[in-house]
Amino acid sequence: MADARAVDRTRSLLRPGTPSTLRDDGVLDVRRPDPGPAPSRAAQRLMRFGPLATIYERAWRPLFRLWMGLGGPTVETERTLAVRDLGLVDPDTRVVLDVACGPGGFTRYLADALVDAGRDDALVIGLDASEPMLARAAADTDRPDHVAYVLGDARDLPFEDGSVDAVCCYAALYLVPEPLRVLAELVRVLRPGGRIALMTTVRRGPDPVGSVMAAAVRPSGLEVFDPDTFTDALDRAGFAFVEQRIHGAAQFVTGRKV
Ligand SMILES: C[S@@+](CC[C@H](N)C(=O)[O-])C[C@H]1O[C@@H](n2cnc3c(N)ncnc32)[C@H](O)[C@@H]1O
Repeated sequence: MADARAVDRTRSLLRPGTPSTLRDDGVLDVRRPDPGPAPSRAAQRLMRFGPLATIYERAWRPLFRLWMGLGGPTVETERTLAVRDLGLVDPDTRVVLDVACGPGGFTRYLADALVDAGRDDALVIGLDASEPMLARAAADTDRPDHVAYVLGDARDLPFEDGSVDAVCCYAALYLVPEPLRVLAELVRVLRPGGRIALMTTVRRGPDPVGSVMAAAVRPSGLEVFDPDTFTDALDRAGFAFVEQRIHGAAQFVTGRKV
C-alpha cells in the first residue's frame, strides 16, 4: 500500500477540482460518473474478473509472448526495454505514469529501476480501471514510498497537462474503447522532453508469422491496429525520435515529446 507521501505527491499532480478518495486498500479513486462508453469487449470485461488479477503475472501475462512470434521478447525483456524506451537513465526522469497497469508488474519494475539509479524522489503511478487488478497491485507494493495506484479511466486521465516525466501504456490500447483518445491523453499529461512507450497489437501484411499471430488475436475481440496508426499519431503530435519495433502481431512504439 502506498504511503501518505506517495499519495500526497500523486494528489498534487491531479487537475484542480479532481475529486479523489483514498480507499482502504490504499488506491486513490478518481473515477468520474460518466467517462464514456462502458467496456464492450469480452476481453476488457475479463480484466474486471477478480481471479484473473491473482494469476495474471504468473500465468496470463507470459502467454502474450505467443503472439510476439519466434524470438519475441519475454516479459522480463519487455520490462528492460521499457526502462530504455522511457529514458529512465535520464536523471530528470522522476515521475512515471504506467497507464492500464493491471496488477502492477511493470509499475514495480519501473520503480525499482528508478530507485536503483539513485532517484530517491522517484514516483511511479499505476492507473487502471479494474478494481481487482489495483487491489492486487496495492497489496503487492514493496516500495510504498515510490509507488501509488489510481483507479480511473485512461480516456480521461486525472492529471494536469505536462505533469509526468515519462508515460507508458503496455498491452491495453487494443482493449480500450477509443484508443486514440487514450493516446491523446498520454501525450497531454507528458511534459515536453518526456518519453512515451507503447505496446499493442499490429496488423501484418505479407509476413506469414505476423499474419498467423494477428489471426489468432482477432477472435478474442482485441483490436488489431494498422502499422502506422500510433507512429503517425505521434508524428502528428510533434514527437521526435519516433521508433517502432514489430514482433509477430505486437508493436512497441516509443518517442520523445518536443
Ligand atoms: C492486459 S492488462 C495490461 C497490464 C499491464 N500493462 C501489462 O502490460 O501487463 C490490460 C489492463 O488495461 C486495463 N484497462 C482497460 N481499459 C481501461 C481504461 N479505459 N482505463 C484504464 N485501464 C483500462 C484493464 O483493466 C487491464 O488491467
